[in-house]
Amino acid sequence: MTVYLNGQFLAVEHAQVSILDRGFIFGDGVYEVIPVYSRRAFRLTEHLQRLQHSCDGILLPNPHTENEWTAILNALIARHSDDDQYLYLHVTRGAAPRDHAFPVPAVAPTVLVMSKPLTPPTQALLNQGVACITAVDNRWLRCDIKAISLLPNVLLRQQAIAAGCVESILIRDDKFMTEGAASNIFVVKNNILIAPPKDNLMLPGITYDVLLEIAAAHGIEQQIRRVAKAEVFTADELLMTSSTREVLAITQLDGKPVANGKPGAMFAQLHALYQTFKRDIMRNPSPL
Ligand code: PDD
Repeated sequence: MTVYLNGQFLAVEHAQVSILDRGFIFGDGVYEVIPVYSRRAFRLTEHLQRLQHSCDGILLPNPHTENEWTAILNALIARHSDDDQYLYLHVTRGAAPRDHAFPVPAVAPTVLVMSKPLTPPTQALLNQGVACITAVDNRWLRCDIKAISLLPNVLLRQQAIAAGCVESILIRDDKFMTEGAASNIFVVKNNILIAPPKDNLMLPGITYDVLLEIAAAHGIEQQIRRVAKAEVFTADELLMTSSTREVLAITQLDGKPVANGKPGAMFAQLHALYQTFKRDIMRNPSPL
């Protein structure tokens, strides 16, 4: 497997970073996960804009321009055999003697990009939906930054796995739903698609935006607002989105069925529209 590290394309076993890297020591860095369909990075401009937002959020100069990133990512895509891939892009504040304060003068950032084959959710998963738990959102107040320091998210996801589920739906202050440990969550009630606002308490998902755009284009009513905890438990449908899972129906919550326990009509419509959107976009030679 070839990865990109600091200007070089290397076999993964030859790619090395210092033990003093601030990513390793402090989790001091940011990342992106970008799906690639038919060898073209999906919504690349939006992913790179979010990367810029994350870099700004941690006061880290973005090491590359949009054109430079595009060239690096395309060169890595070309070195992998799968047409559909997902790119993991990671930038840290670089290697320096351990000190919480930023290094002065600044050191070179560490830039890593990896690619893996992208496998969409199986038909069985689409037909059955997935099981989730609710969990306390105990993360910091800058969840809009896609930071590599993911320990709370890792523990929250593991809480779901330990319960035989795929994801934790996070509840803030025992009052309202924010997102999943690594996904965005939507509630459907009375044919209205309801989603939390893109504020500092959730990651502004690229797939979240795509789903809302598709819904708007097809006349599906939507509300962007705080989603009360109680609404999660009385939803007609619950949906989950992410770059790697696209859109999935959540059919079990805390061991109980969501409505009748089967993927609902809104899921079926949005999933079909998402697939059509992807196919149409991929046939279109303009940027995705
Ligand atoms: N995670 N919220 C969180 C906390 C996430 O980590 C993710 C994605 C999302 C969905 O964002 P998007 O639609 O842009 O993928 C929401 C990625 C997939 C990951 O960490 O692997």
